[in-house]
Amino acid sequence: MAKVTIRDLNLNGLRTLVRVDYNVPIDEKDGAFVITDDTRIRETLPTIKLLREKGAKIILCAHMGRPKGKKNLKESLAPVAVRLAELSGTPVAFSEETVGPVAEAKAAALKPGEILLLENTRFYSEEEKNDPVFAAQLAKLADVYINDAFGAAHRAHASTEGVAKFVKEKGIGLLMERELKFLGDAVANPARPFVVILGGAKVSDKIKVIDSLLDKADTILIGGAMAYTFSLALGKQVGKSRTEPDQVDTAKKALEKAKAKGVKFLLPVDNFIVESVDFDAKKVSPGRYTEDANVPDGWLGVDIGPKTVAEWTTEIASAKTVLWNGPAGIFEIKECAKGTFAIAEAVAANSAATTIIGGGDSVKAVKRAGVADKVSFISTGGGASLEFLEGAVLPGVACIPDKA
Ligand code: 3PG
Repeated sequence: MAKVTIRDLNLNGLRTLVRVDYNVPIDEKDGAFVITDDTRIRETLPTIKLLREKGAKIILCAHMGRPKGKKNLKESLAPVAVRLAELSGTPVAFSEETVGPVAEAKAAALKPGEILLLENTRFYSEEEKNDPVFAAQLAKLADVYINDAFGAAHRAHASTEGVAKFVKEKGIGLLMERELKFLGDAVANPARPFVVILGGAKVSDKIKVIDSLLDKADTILIGGAMAYTFSLALGKQVGKSRTEPDQVDTAKKALEKAKAKGVKFLLPVDNFIVESVDFDAKKVSPGRYTEDANVPDGWLGVDIGPKTVAEWTTEIASAKTVLWNGPAGIFEIKECAKGTFAIAEAVAANSAATTIIGGGDSVKAVKRAGVADKVSFISTGGGASLEFLEGAVLPGVACIPDKA
């Protein structure tokens, strides 16, 4: 069911509290805090533009990091206010208090179209506890509540969920709308063939997604270290590859379900293997490709091999919908990145399909491969997109009413 959006609401002259996800990576350089990836800020610009056109008084709130209720400079949103002002070409006021008299006065002083960013909601321990008093304090700042923070919508926190109970008028922003549309259509109504590529280290992290997508996909390609747990389930050699022996039964069940449902469930048919990995130095010992799926004793699999790349490229090329979540190998290390980058290229090359990058590391891979502008949609959610794909109800979405 479609949610009420900012398009549907009269916001003229109204104080509009907008929850955004500005949890962006920040590095400290010579005592200054530098945003290293501003994608999440850029992605809110259409919402902010429309809110300004509608004459809203914009009060943005967000979290940064996991400060556990303690204020600290490194997790302040102050640098985000500066970057947002640059990107939007509009002054952005900042309130060092998230709630209380100072924030209330700054919110009350806004004129239509003006923007105020509140300090990190997680500087208050009440935020993650979804404390109703804190939620009511947030609500006091505004006439209308908008949730545009898809990336945090899987959290039932005061600013993502609790506050909605205290504000009468509410809706979602344009980013949330796009996320729900692309991810929602992919799982509810995909153009077929629907090919899903899942990677990453752990079966335990992705099993709910695998289970849910086995009901929807035509083909599922499994890469990353989790493929070796599936290899174990199939009685193949895994050497000293990273596996989860306690997940072998779960992997077996997924393989059985795929068979029963007629879903093509493809595991790597060859691997790039090395004898050792130094994660800190980002180095591996000299590696080689295996002939088949087996990894010999003393070696570990760190990427898919060229035969797998060729097979998967064909699958991806024939798809009408592609959803990718999780890298095919340890792509942070150059020698182990070929498979992941080849997938990025293959997904980007299929311009006839709706291609969706489901958040997290695959987003980094698509960006590093230089093909981010060639895919249909890149989710800003990591955990949120996974939970959405698992079929979970996201609290930050559920608290917004459906369209009449
Ligand atoms: C994210 O970066 O995935 C979101 O901002 C949520 O952050 P969290 O996992 O700390 O709740």
